[in-house]
Amino acid sequence: MRRKWVGGNWKMHGSRQMASRMTGAIVDAEIGDVEVALFPPFPYLREVCAASAGSKIAVGGQDASEHESGAYTGEVSAAMLKDVGCRLALAGHSERRQYHHESDDEVAAKVAQILANDLTAVLCVGETLREREDGRTAEVVSRQLRAVIDRCGITAFGRIVLAYEPVWAIGTGRTASPGQAQEVHALLRSHLGAGDARIGGSTRIVYGGSVKPGNAAELFAQPDIDGGLIGGACLESADFLAICAAAG
Ligand code: PGA
Repeated sequence: MRRKWVGGNWKMHGSRQMASRMTGAIVDAEIGDVEVALFPPFPYLREVCAASAGSKIAVGGQDASEHESGAYTGEVSAAMLKDVGCRLALAGHSERRQYHHESDDEVAAKVAQILANDLTAVLCVGETLREREDGRTAEVVSRQLRAVIDRCGITAFGRIVLAYEPVWAIGTGRTASPGQAQEVHALLRSHLGAGDARIGGSTRIVYGGSVKPGNAAELFAQPDIDGGLIGGACLESADFLAICAAAG
């Protein structure tokens, strides 16, 4: 049985005040049998790590450099994330792939760095609206997944949470139907299972893209959907907690 996982990706929102308020509300809440992770902007990581210390809530970076260290102005390394108390980092979020032109290879190198620093990687994959309309969904997500399998090996998925995030559903209010999401999740799981049956069965594959308190339960009830990566709806602690409850 895979334990459900819910992550809150704050993106570039909030303030120090919001960071302590939000974290406090989530730490104080009764959260069921679900793993919860928060991904605040870098400057608030220490704040959120301190406010959640000793709780079940894990904290992660929204990105990590593909490089170990060096002259890379503006970048943050996986080792630094670890140093301030993070336990996870996102890699390959579609906003990074789209606005920062991150290639599949770069994303795979980031995952390698994240894992090398003993953090859990949350690998995001997903197709654009154009790619879906062209019938290329399976090809695109398989290619994005393959790049990481090739670079890190299939057993690395023992420390990876895979997030299926169709780009057309992110921040648009247009959620993939439970059936549409389940179809892609099953495909991703079959790829993992072809490499290693145990990994196929144990890897958490979570859905992201306009998950709200009103649609979370139905999505999370699908056999291959093991939770969610939440953007907009994680900025209100009540909504985020309702989504966690739907997973718990
Ligand atoms: P959304 O974002 O919930 O606002 O659609 C999800 C994500 O980008 O992880």
